[in-house]
Amino acid sequence: MSSPPSFPPPAVCTPAQLLATRDAFDSVAADYDGPRGNNALIQEMRREMWRWMDLTFAPGSRLLDLGCGTGLDAVRMARVGHRVIATDWSDQMVRRTTERAAQEQLTPRVAALVAGAHELHRLEGERTYDGAYSNLGPLNCVPDLEAMSRELFRLLKPGGSLVFTVIGRVCPWEIAHYLGRRKWARLRIRYARGFVPVGMNNHTVWTHYYAPREFYRAFKHDFALTHFRGLCLFAPPPYISWVHDRHPRWHERLWRLDRALAAWPVFRGLGDHFLIVMRRRR
Ligand SMILES: C[S@@+](CC[C@H](N)C(=O)[O-])C[C@H]1O[C@@H](n2cnc3c(N)ncnc32)[C@H](O)[C@@H]1O
Repeated sequence: MSSPPSFPPPAVCTPAQLLATRDAFDSVAADYDGPRGNNALIQEMRREMWRWMDLTFAPGSRLLDLGCGTGLDAVRMARVGHRVIATDWSDQMVRRTTERAAQEQLTPRVAALVAGAHELHRLEGERTYDGAYSNLGPLNCVPDLEAMSRELFRLLKPGGSLVFTVIGRVCPWEIAHYLGRRKWARLRIRYARGFVPVGMNNHTVWTHYYAPREFYRAFKHDFALTHFRGLCLFAPPPYISWVHDRHPRWHERLWRLDRALAAWPVFRGLGDHFLIVMRRRR
């Protein structure tokens, strides 16, 4: 994702923009679990997400994956004993998830469904799921998070949990990266108020960046905030790979700092992404 936005940005995401985002992800689905969507640095973020999901969800949970992509998380969660309904707005991504689940003989435990996170009203049931998760930014593309929160309240059992990683606003590594290159427009993109166009594979992903508390506002009526922390605050974000490539030991140390310190006040509002855990109110 790289092209600068046009300012001022629109506050809402229109149906045409949602379709543009879907086309963008359809166009990269074939190779998204290669370097573009799952390089070594992204795999570290994924491991951190798995650690938090393992801490949060009880064994044998029934889970919803929002924006499952190629199904890497859904298949992993099924492998450790959960049952997952994996959903995504892109039918090409859902196809990849279905294929992966079949290849790994996990089809009974992973069911993949074309459904945007803004379309949860299409999912039947009340108090059906033990939890829901979303990894690496699908929720940055959802037009109305409050409406989504209401649907999740309907779908989750009382006490059910949400674990999300969301693209944040203030990423110190990114600030240094673009300041050094004097890319002012790119530097400002995360601070836009509404949805901004972000280029990917000659398509556009309409993206809303959030600070953690700004994001939580949409959920606070239905869900209590349990934990939030920066993700890739000390460790560099996935598109800044030189530390990992040239100084692997430093890279490991920076990840250790992330795990130890990124939940501290002030730090927890920073980072390429943030990780947030919430619990359904009764
Ligand atoms: C950066 S990828 C992350 C995929 C996956 N969660 C992972 O960890 O690899 C973002 C995903 O969000 C999906 N997405 C975009 N907008 C969405 C929406 N409104 N509802 C659900 N999924 C959406 C895309 O199709 C894509 O698969």
